[in-house]
Amino acid sequence: MGSGDLPAVLAIERAAYPYPWTGAIFQDCLRVGYCCWVAEDASGVIGYFVLSVAAQEAHLLNLCITPQLQRQGLGRRLLRQVLRLAREHDARSLFLEVRPSNTAALVLYRGTGFTEIGVRRAYYPADDGGRENAVVLSLSL
Ligand SMILES: CC(C)(COP(=O)(O)OP(=O)(O)OC[C@H]1O[C@@H](n2cnc3c(N)ncnc32)[C@H](O)[C@@H]1OP(=O)(O)O)[C@@H](O)C(=O)NCCC(=O)NCCS
Repeated sequence: MGSGDLPAVLAIERAAYPYPWTGAIFQDCLRVGYCCWVAEDASGVIGYFVLSVAAQEAHLLNLCITPQLQRQGLGRRLLRQVLRLAREHDARSLFLEVRPSNTAALVLYRGTGFTEIGVRRAYYPADDGGRENAVVLSLSL
């Protein structure tokens, strides 16, 4: 992912998430040198992920497939690339947070071997004006 990809990335982000990241968040991720990758087909960007690795711990901060192309195995393929990259950077564990209501993501992560290690209370904004917990998942690499 480069800054030139951000318009396409943001269009997908806004279509895919109820509370999307802003352009400034993606720009910060690029600036600090996180592993920011896009997946492309002939039409352009169709998905992306943002991964940070420090002190042998990797953290998957975002993984997204454009809504029109979801449920075709692309999320799983992109997650495989995340795992490869995390291992290449010598990470021993991969962590992520997910909304308990995000069935698609939970099926994907649990099917890949992630296990639930905790809950962050009131982590995400929610539609009722309140907050939703985050489930913290980890995978040993
Ligand atoms: C989560 C996400 C990346 C999955 O990508 P995808 O390309 O749709 O997923 P895949 O087609 O590779 O499917 C992966 C697994 O999840 C399952 N799955 C996908 N969507 C599902 C849904 N809506 N309900 C139930 N299971 C679902 C698939 O059946 C598959 O399981 P299987 O391999 O056991 O058959 C995608 O839904 C997405 O971008 N969502 C919005 C952004 C998001 O929430 N990201 C995760 C933040 S933590």
